[in-house]
Amino acid sequence: MMTIQENISLKKYNSLGIDVKARFLCHYKTPIDLNYLITEGPLNRDIEMIILGGGTNQLFINDFEGVVIHPINDSIELVSEDSDFVYIKADAGLEWDKLVAYAVDKGYGGIENLSDIPGNVGASPVQNIGAYGVEAKDTIHEVHLVSFHDGSTMTLSNKECLFGYRTSIFKHKFKNRYLVDSVTFKLAKNPVFVTHYGNVAAELEKKETVTLQNIRDVIIGIRSSKLPKPSEISNAGSFFKNPILPEIEANALKKQFPEMPIYPASNGQVKLAAGWLIEQCGLKGYTASNGKAGIHDKQALVIVNKGNASGSDILEVSHFAQMKVFEKFDINLEPEVIII
Ligand code: EPU
Repeated sequence: MMTIQENISLKKYNSLGIDVKARFLCHYKTPIDLNYLITEGPLNRDIEMIILGGGTNQLFINDFEGVVIHPINDSIELVSEDSDFVYIKADAGLEWDKLVAYAVDKGYGGIENLSDIPGNVGASPVQNIGAYGVEAKDTIHEVHLVSFHDGSTMTLSNKECLFGYRTSIFKHKFKNRYLVDSVTFKLAKNPVFVTHYGNVAAELEKKETVTLQNIRDVIIGIRSSKLPKPSEISNAGSFFKNPILPEIEANALKKQFPEMPIYPASNGQVKLAAGWLIEQCGLKGYTASNGKAGIHDKQALVIVNKGNASGSDILEVSHFAQMKVFEKFDINLEPEVIII
């Protein structure tokens, strides 16, 4: 029987540490739980609903008067293998980095660059999480879903997920229609290492050999030098997406700001670094006047809760950063964090 809590604070369920209440918090383990919620539980009426995984990418502004579904299933299973690949099925509620640690320990390659990303496995296809030249879509084989309509199960192939930069079908067409129950990853027995991003290669040179474990260690080192740990400073990772512009617009900006980092993106477009843009506006380390929220002093893409910030305090800082970047660069920053 699934656990359902009523009128409960979500403070410990969101990494920004915002103290809002949920009308219902339902701890999901199996498709039977969702079936129960739909037929007899609080979902059998017209009520708002959200899925909350690790809560590392959500900003709550108000109490949520609906049903919050929080997956807590957390097993890992090797479902099949051939001479080159293993197929690992991981439950949505499993902490993402536990899956990475497992894969690295077993010598399975493909997700080691995604070490130390906060959040749970269920968000990996939704967000198409990415870091250091790798995205979840590169290894996601299938996504296993449960329907909010009738509790039936369904599996989507990688192609059917319509992955893009920090997006997928689960953010638009399938939003609130299906719950991600588990994800099957296709991992390589003979890994091809991806080391071209930033200073990954330089850091690896300090190690004797390039191994999955050494890549994982280097990436954890780089991340912890820039990104605040939510357990120490409440935050939701990158608050904004890196903007993607047509090449012609990016080139015009590059003429004006020659030191601006640019990266090739798909369809001949160019990706800019939102953190750089925000830093150029003098906002790295910024603190709002009430002292409760601000911008991280080592990575300007991260908005931090400096103590008892409300959702609106965080939102205000984000609007301020958006305004400054627009004034200086004529670019609209789009939040990566989902605002609820
Ligand atoms: N930069 C600055 N100032 C800053 C931040 C960045 O000048 O305050 C510059 C850096 O020097 C670098 C460039 O911007 O030249 C890119 O910075 P970085 O490599 O730190 O990555 P990012 O583009 O800021 C993205 C992801 C991160 C991911 C890193 C590493 C997005 C929105 N963010 O950040 O993902 O860890 O690349 O691959 O795509 C997340 O999504 O929550 C997240 C942390």
